[in-house]
Amino acid sequence: MYALARPFLFCLDAERAHELALAAIDTAYRSGVGSLLASRPKPVPTEAFGLRFDNPVGLAAGLDKNGAYIDALAGLGFGFIEVGTTTPRAQSGNPKPRMFRLAQHQAVINRLGFNNGGVDALVRNAERARYSGVLGINIGKNKDTPNERAADDYLLCLERVYARASYVTVNISSPNTQGLRDLQGEDALKRLIGTLREAQERLASTHGARKPMLLKIAPDLDDAELDTMAAVLLSAGIDGVICTNTTIDRGAVEGNRHAAEAGGLSGKPLFARSTRILQEMSKRLGPSIPTIGVGGILSGEDAAAKIDAGASLVQFYTGLIYRGPALIGESVDAIRRRVSAGRTARTR
Ligand code: FNR
Repeated sequence: MYALARPFLFCLDAERAHELALAAIDTAYRSGVGSLLASRPKPVPTEAFGLRFDNPVGLAAGLDKNGAYIDALAGLGFGFIEVGTTTPRAQSGNPKPRMFRLAQHQAVINRLGFNNGGVDALVRNAERARYSGVLGINIGKNKDTPNERAADDYLLCLERVYARASYVTVNISSPNTQGLRDLQGEDALKRLIGTLREAQERLASTHGARKPMLLKIAPDLDDAELDTMAAVLLSAGIDGVICTNTTIDRGAVEGNRHAAEAGGLSGKPLFARSTRILQEMSKRLGPSIPTIGVGGILSGEDAAAKIDAGASLVQFYTGLIYRGPALIGESVDAIRRRVSAGRTARTR
């Protein structure tokens, strides 16, 4: 089915194609024919951060920024769905065009800039959804909030989403909000994660339920930065780390007509870089802090390679654009084969 739609979608501007594809998935779901889009994978029950997943293959943040399509996307067979990034107030993001397909590289460059309807709209959508599986909510800061006050934005979002989220992702790694990635530096990270961890414990007792908090990191970090970051995260007691967001590096797509567009590069050219960061981070964090591998998964083998590199779970976004929903079942099957061969992250 997706093979038929893809040539049409690829004729359109990338952001327009994205909107149309989401609308089509939603229509199919509402008309009860969503199962024609993808066959539901056989479960691969997985546990991480104290949560149970039907399978370890999730939707990465950014595709459903407002949580408006949770049921339709879950119907494709994902083992978990991450929505957002959401910010305290609605914002329109960067001027268009701001999303580009690099088809020959199976890649995308985007500089959307956290366009979203604000955290309250996301929570309303999420509360309306019937989906009862694992729902991650990814939080960020508004563009016009200076970094010195970033913690206030993250705190507000954490509080608003807490009741509905299965886990919360703190996104400090998008390249499209100026200065955001500076929050990954040692002092800023210590302060931010310290504040949010305190709030998490407070919310756990007021809500009578502890929700895991994950940090999503950039792929553009050197070994010394990974060392520092891992030390901060281990001492702060973060629940998990998502490796990685998009890259600002263009080495792998040199010569492409869109290569010079500002923004984050995702898809196949990101695979090696993000998998290296995943492996290095998983090694530094050890088994007590699970990781999610995301970046450049275009095949089942890519998904299984993330598990080999130390991930407990995987996510993708760009792979869905190039491969369609078939990539979900293919990834689940490839990981199932690894698990039954005894080569899971836990037993390695
Ligand atoms: C993203 N990504 C992203 N990540 C995030 O934490 N918050 C966000 O709002 C977005 N927005 C977004 C928009 C678009 C158009 C893309 C392509 C990506 C990053 C995404 O979740 C993922 O980390 C990277 O894209 C790498 O995975 P893939 O796309 O190579 O599978």
